[in-house]
Amino acid sequence: MTQSLTIRRPDDWHLHLRDGAMLRAVLPETARHFARAIIMPNLVPPVVTSADAAAYRDRIMDAMPEGADFTPLMTLYLTEDTDPDDLAAAHDSGLITSVKLYPAGATTNSASGVKDFDKVRPVLERMAEIGCPLCVHGEVTDREIDIFDREAVFIDRVLDPIRRTTPGLRVIMEHITTRNGADYVASAPEDLGATITVQHLMFDRNDMLVGGMRPHYYCLPILKRREHREALLAAATSGDPRYFLGTDSAPHPTHAKEAECCAAGCFTAPIALSCLAHVFEEAGALDKLEGFASLHGPAFYGLPVNDDTITLSKGDALEIPKTLPAGDHTVTVFDPGLPLNWRVA
Ligand code: NCD
Ligand code: ZN
Ligand code: ZN
Repeated sequence: MTQSLTIRRPDDWHLHLRDGAMLRAVLPETARHFARAIIMPNLVPPVVTSADAAAYRDRIMDAMPEGADFTPLMTLYLTEDTDPDDLAAAHDSGLITSVKLYPAGATTNSASGVKDFDKVRPVLERMAEIGCPLCVHGEVTDREIDIFDREAVFIDRVLDPIRRTTPGLRVIMEHITTRNGADYVASAPEDLGATITVQHLMFDRNDMLVGGMRPHYYCLPILKRREHREALLAAATSGDPRYFLGTDSAPHPTHAKEAECCAAGCFTAPIALSCLAHVFEEAGALDKLEGFASLHGPAFYGLPVNDDTITLSKGDALEIPKTLPAGDHTVTVFDPGLPLNWRVA
């Protein structure tokens, strides 16, 4: 039985750090384990210009714990008014690594996102030209489409047409949650990748809804039925380099989660690697963990893998704090409801 596993230091290819007191509370949890992360731009107001991204990067560096070795990879929030020249300059200078597409109204802080996809076509064409990848929250927002079908419908109605009309655009389907998403990636050429979260590998909608509603399991895209979880797990443990880890750790104040209308997002950063080792071990695929967490992401983004390593070891169950203080509030750590025996040594 494997009791310890040394892998290249991992990166998180989809992360929410927020701002202010919340940023200070959650940044150490990611910086402790991960070398780099793609930083989501859905602040209020969002990170839409290169100046916004530079200022946000400075605030992150300012909040960095003493001695941390962590690089935030910045993104711009795509709007119908995004200036292609500003975007291209930010990408050329290395200030941003990618651009994020939120369909307006699809998720937390997406109100400034895209309503008419034709309006962003010139920006997408420019991105294809300069080699700037597009990260996508892939759900339609039409009221008549069932929330459990929104990812599959997005692929057919929005994503596939965008990819056909913008050859050369590298796209990352963020946080895929369905067999449809996994299959679409598998059927596509090398220019399409996907991130997968820890909660979507471990849980299905029964875990969120049976016996009572668990607000800390509510995130978007919403947990789906079990067969989808199984397809995601098969993709993540397949060794196919187009699937890689994006935790989508998405902290909200506890009162906003435990509310009449609960905010979407799971704060998983403190336990993400322990959960990942748990679920890969259960799947008999610990040998595939390094690829998923540490190798495939850099390869897709054309970045070097990290030089250093981390060691995961198995022992007594981790003691996980229920909450962390975040300014005047707390943030509740995602509780997987089972003992986690893997820890980062
Ligand atoms: C994210 C958040 O809280 O910012 N929430 C979530 O449920 N995943 C937004 C997102 O990634 O869609
Ligand atoms: Zn999203
Ligand atoms: Zn997210």
